[in-house]
Amino acid sequence: MKKIIDLRSDTITKPSQEMRKAMYDAEVGDDVYKEDPTANELEKYAAELLGKEAALFVASGVMGNQICLNVLTQPGDEVICEKDAHIFQYESGSPAALSGIQLSLVDGTNGVFTPEQVEPLIRPESAYYMARTKVIEVENTHNRAGGTINPIGNIKALSELAKKYNLYFHLDGARIWNASVETGISPADYAKHFDSVSCCLSKGLGAPIGSIIAGTKDFIKEAYRVRKAWGGGMRQVGILAAAGLFALKNNIPRLKEDHIKAKVLAEALSKISGLTIQKELVQTNIVMFIPSKMSVENFLAKAKDAGVLLGTGKVGVIRAVTHMDVSTEEIDQATKVIEKIML
Ligand SMILES: Cc1ncc(COP(=O)(O)O)c(C=O)c1O
Repeated sequence: MKKIIDLRSDTITKPSQEMRKAMYDAEVGDDVYKEDPTANELEKYAAELLGKEAALFVASGVMGNQICLNVLTQPGDEVICEKDAHIFQYESGSPAALSGIQLSLVDGTNGVFTPEQVEPLIRPESAYYMARTKVIEVENTHNRAGGTINPIGNIKALSELAKKYNLYFHLDGARIWNASVETGISPADYAKHFDSVSCCLSKGLGAPIGSIIAGTKDFIKEAYRVRKAWGGGMRQVGILAAAGLFALKNNIPRLKEDHIKAKVLAEALSKISGLTIQKELVQTNIVMFIPSKMSVENFLAKAKDAGVLLGTGKVGVIRAVTHMDVSTEEIDQATKVIEKIML
């Protein structure tokens, strides 16, 4: 049977045999009592990797972001984020539903906004009739913008702005590992600018489930409480934590291969007439392109019939994500399929 080439997301990656072995062998205990040795080891390892005092294993990236926002805010507060941020576009309205907070959107460029754009949005402390600005949030790499990297100088400047106004600074670092591998800036050198970070284990790193949040000991103590309140206290979770630990120890450097595959794909797509692609925005493992003369739905259906699964990003945009379960040969095959569709 012909293998399907699945480029919808890096979340479709399946645990490797070695990862499954680590899961099988994991020592476990009741993590709600903090007695799961593997979960404890993962949290210690992740905290060190991110240069933070403490870390917590949570079920997903959405749970990670939302716990962080909940701990940092009170109902009626406001979080400033980019208009295409995951917390705004793809988290089911959770900031309002779970924490009673509202989002103030910045019109960034390719997912990146500057301190000059943010400063006018910070509400004066004296304005009791307005929502209270409490957090600035940055997503790095930026999913809906196509895996773009936020420049470290901009992150530093935003962090200084947050400090000046006594605001918290949160990182949605679902793919911070991709940014790190591409720039050579360590995860800790990114994380040090933020009060809280949320990072995924289940995307390019290949673990089946889970994210890490990190911050100060006090922050994580509170996050632990919120995780339990939201039903995220899991028992013998070491089976999953073992996969996360394996992912962090073994799978970060190989993300570079995904970036190379994305560049190969982008280069090939740029030569196909009728497709629009901004190659300079292909900075990590996500490739966005726009087909002319055909609806996205039609394009996706034709690709699927030919054995290639693709996804969508913004309206009218097709999204291909490279990952460990797709080879360079399969990228070539996918390119040929796309070429044929555009003939
Ligand atoms: C930037 C970003 N943040 C958060 C998430 C949420 O992760 P999860 O699907 O594990 O909830 C994603 C998922 O794609 C993401 O791309």
